Amino acid sequence: KIIVLDFGGQYNQLITRRIRDLGVFSELRSYKTTAEELREINPTGIIFSGGPGSAYVEGAPSCDPEIFELGIPILGICYGMQLMTHHFEGKVEAANRREYGKAMITVENENKLYEGLPAEQSVWMSHGDKVLAPPAGFTVDATNVSCPVAGMSDVSRNFYGVQFHPEVRNTEYGNELLKNFVYNICECEGNWTMENFIDMEVQKVRDAVGDRQVLCALSGGVDSSVVAALIHKAIGEQLTCMFIDHGLLRKGEAESVMKTFSEGFDMKVVKIDAQDRFLGKLQGVSDPEEKRKVIGNEFIYVFEEEAGKLKDMDFLAQGTLYTDIIESGTDTAQTIKSHHNVGGLPEDMKFDLIEPLNTLFKDEVREVGSELGLPDEVVWRQPFPGPGLGIRVLGEITDEKLEIVRESDAILREEIKNAGLEREIWQYFTALPDMRSVGVMGDERTYDYTVGVRAVTSIDGMTSDWARIPYDVLERISTRIVNEVANVNRVVYDITSKPPSTIEWE
Ligand code: XMP
Repeated sequence: KIIVLDFGGQYNQLITRRIRDLGVFSELRSYKTTAEELREINPTGIIFSGGPGSAYVEGAPSCDPEIFELGIPILGICYGMQLMTHHFEGKVEAANRREYGKAMITVENENKLYEGLPAEQSVWMSHGDKVLAPPAGFTVDATNVSCPVAGMSDVSRNFYGVQFHPEVRNTEYGNELLKNFVYNICECEGNWTMENFIDMEVQKVRDAVGDRQVLCALSGGVDSSVVAALIHKAIGEQLTCMFIDHGLLRKGEAESVMKTFSEGFDMKVVKIDAQDRFLGKLQGVSDPEEKRKVIGNEFIYVFEEEAGKLKDMDFLAQGTLYTDIIESGTDTAQTIKSHHNVGGLPEDMKFDLIEPLNTLFKDEVREVGSELGLPDEVVWRQPFPGPGLGIRVLGEITDEKLEIVRESDAILREEIKNAGLEREIWQYFTALPDMRSVGVMGDERTYDYTVGVRAVTSIDGMTSDWARIPYDVLERISTRIVNEVANVNRVVYDITSKPPSTIEWE
């Protein structure tokens, strides 16, 4: 395994990503990780990441100096190389000009890191400081016009440094260089596959749980579904899933979750029918934030109450992902973890947590899900908000309005599927504004609801663009909704991006 020490650079998560794609497990850790801790982790190699600091400035992030004594190969990237240089008393200085973007380097001293790569390569630079002279014992491996030291090494100790960013796609041979580091220099085995991951985690869950019982709140979303399937593989009958139907799910969703898990996987799934409870609490509530609060709180009450009825649950399984943990920086990873409660479950519950996905990225979770035999509808399910249709019926929620959203949404999903656009469009749904307009059907005047269609492309939901759905598909969607859903006489398509809009309408 390769440990990446995080000095705060913007591409750090990408480094772990690239190493994993090479078949080697990699994790990001705080730069404060001590040599002692690293000895325990026992990585085959260490990478010092880039970062915004200046190595020669008092108080700049620095590593435990004993790390250099561990005998483990080290690759310093950008700030990482400058830090190494500063530590061994080479010369680091502020450059006259920041260097940002594509640059050509010339490899002058070929060693294991550059094996099989051409002497002239295009790389991605992003730095303000530069190394003027490498420390004693190091040789210059590569140069470029603005950096006398674009790469350096002390091969006797397996210390390497590069000023450019091999993890960025714009570095022509970046992947090959990282591959050389992990395989040629660190001699990693390359056994990081999702199959191995499953075997490892199954064993870990068995060891941790023993003959005790695990509870898992199943929402039908990707993360909780994969957690349930994984833990079920590990301990079978000792897992109980709880699926709360708050009455704000999409058409057919509750049935489909029960069918997949209870029948398909033969899991113990306790289904809680709490529709009346939730809808009762939501009566007369029309403010979006208030609705969210009511739904969130009620979810916790129901969960606590029902979990209390189950005897002897020792563990709570959660679908926390790697990105949830490192989002706010590895330095604070520990505290984030205890606060990160997927689905907003209460923090003071008397459970030990099991989070078997907390080293995975989202696409890896999908791979694990497929490997475990979860159907595509689950593995490739689009994001669905916790408050469900509650924030897609604008204003006060009634049974009639929920029915309109459910039916129109089902039509939209079907047509998107028929058009083969499911994976292209990140999220798509219908929303029901609290308004009516005049129409004409047959020879009669109508005064009915308007359905809004929302479909967006996005990477992570933080920003998004409206999806360019072909007109003929939009036409089918509109015609079918007006014809098949009672009390609707108009369909509009939302053509705003986020920002300035948001994805959901409430
Ligand atoms: P917005 O509307 O903020 O949505 O652009 C961004 C993404 O987050 C989802 N979303 C939620 N998910 N609880 C959730 O679990 C919520 O309260 C919530 N609100 C929005 C939304 O569906 C989109 O994918």
